[in-house]
Amino acid sequence: MKKGILGLVGSLLIATVTSVAAGDVAQGRAAYLQYCASCHGLTGDGNGPMARILTTPPANLRRLSERYGNPLPEKQIAQFIDGRAEVEAHGPRDMPVWGDRLSAEPTGSERKTQELIAKLVAYLQSIQTGPRTASSRVRKSA
Ligand code: HEC
Repeated sequence: MKKGILGLVGSLLIATVTSVAAGDVAQGRAAYLQYCASCHGLTGDGNGPMARILTTPPANLRRLSERYGNPLPEKQIAQFIDGRAEVEAHGPRDMPVWGDRLSAEPTGSERKTQELIAKLVAYLQSIQTGPRTASSRVRKSA
């Protein structure tokens, strides 16, 4: 039963992620400024005001494609932002678990959470500084 629900959420996520439109990037940017810029910086370079008090430095999100490929692997990035599966597998982390936070908002729901995360991923794609690459396979950082 639980598996069925997870599978449904997964396919909803894919459906929303693949229908990226320009409006999604704008909405993703607004959400980014609201939720992410305090750590990752206004431009995504990792230099937000909170950065100095964190033990793990927030990533430079403009350079994600250098490690993940360009276009970004949307599903993988979305799952990392969501964080619920990640934390279940690897334990606590410095990056907030947005899946929990967003779905706990007064007007939040699972569907809205997945949609917002997809928009955040669309925005992150739009700020990548690296060139397009042939494959978006995960690469190890050197
Ligand atoms: C409280 C500070 C904080 C906030 C707010 C925050 N992050 Fe992060 N983020 C981090 C830290 C620290 C890391 C480094 C990874 C870790 O936790 O070990 C990270 C890593 C990431 C990564 C992974 C980069 C990689 O190298 O794989 C992504 C993507 C990301 N954040 C996106 C976001 C998005 C989108 C938001 C807003 C919804 C956000 N972050 C809000 C602190 C934050």
